[in-house]
Amino acid sequence: MLSRSLLLISILSITFVHSKKNVNNRPIIGILAQSTKGTSVESLGQTYIDAAYVKYVESSGGRVVPIKNNLSHDELSNLFNSINGVLFPGGDVDVVDSGYAKTGEIIVKLAKKAFDKGDYFPLWGTCLGFQFLATAVSGTSSILSSSDAENLALPLDFSRGYKESRMFSSMSSKLAKYLSTASTTVNLHRNCVTTESFDGNMKLKQFFRVLSTNYDRNQKHFVSTMEGIKYPFYATQWHPEKNSFEWTKALKIPHEAMSIEVTQYFSNFFINETRSNNHKFKSIEEQEKNMMYNYCPIFTGNISNWVQTYII
Ligand SMILES: *[C@@H]1O[C@H](CO)[C@@H](O)[C@H](O)[C@H]1NC(C)=O
Ligand SMILES: *[C@@H]1O[C@H](CO)[C@@H](O)[C@H](O)[C@H]1NC(C)=O
Ligand SMILES: *[C@@H]1O[C@H](CO)[C@@H](O)[C@H](O)[C@H]1NC(C)=O
Repeated sequence: MLSRSLLLISILSITFVHSKKNVNNRPIIGILAQSTKGTSVESLGQTYIDAAYVKYVESSGGRVVPIKNNLSHDELSNLFNSINGVLFPGGDVDVVDSGYAKTGEIIVKLAKKAFDKGDYFPLWGTCLGFQFLATAVSGTSSILSSSDAENLALPLDFSRGYKESRMFSSMSSKLAKYLSTASTTVNLHRNCVTTESFDGNMKLKQFFRVLSTNYDRNQKHFVSTMEGIKYPFYATQWHPEKNSFEWTKALKIPHEAMSIEVTQYFSNFFINETRSNNHKFKSIEEQEKNMMYNYCPIFTGNISNWVQTYII
């Protein structure tokens, strides 16, 4: 009797999960462009996206639309309703006073508003994207402090309860063990959110759950992975995309088979999340006009640390 009712409950809950989620197996992810000013690719054009982020999304069954950093509110809101998630890449622009930040703030507002209306729209921030999300949510860039973590590969120090998070709940114990013991995560940052600033900022603390932390070269303790408690927003201070796609010998980028599995786990996780909404372009013509396929990546391995770059 007991087992029969358990069976009934599990059948009901499986049915519920399936009917709740209208799975979209053709997700399109926006990646935000940023100014080339002051970078080694400045002479190539005004804004860029590192090709590694595009490959990262494509490797897990997503397609990419570049998001220009100077769209009007209307253009952005139109684009938001046409795509299924947004990735804020790493880089080196201001987290408040830049086209990237101003565009990003509108996207964050739209994603929150959508979620509040039952429309699941995931965001992911990597490195600068992490710092941008922390700034946007806390409302202040003073949440950031300097850090000595350029070219530093580290294992993650998991926070208590990380396994119950959305981000880590489907990770195998083998991969979790590797991630927490091998120096596999690529850190390339001169700023960070210390655990102390995080804990001292109520807005941030109420919004994000810390899933891992790390120490920089000066023993500064910083937040390295976090996810929204309520909202499907995810951020890593480290770079999950680099292990599979970047090859410069100037940086320590681990390419062990298990490091590649870490990259693949997180791209699978994020693209999975973007299958949860049904935003669509109004027509196939409009979709084609917006796709990354309109751009060609340029070989930049001889002038920068990134092997290919899209000039947007
Ligand atoms: C937006 O930036 C692009 C370069 O990325 C430039 O070509 C275009 O003129 C800019 N548009 C506006 C409205 O400023
Ligand atoms: C992606 O979603 C599928 C189906 O919901 C699930 O089985 C799988 O574990 C998810 N993968 C990750 C990495 O979250
Ligand atoms: C870098 O490589 C590209 C593509 O092969 C080439 O066009 C460019 O001149 C090279 N730049 C330098 C500085 O060597």
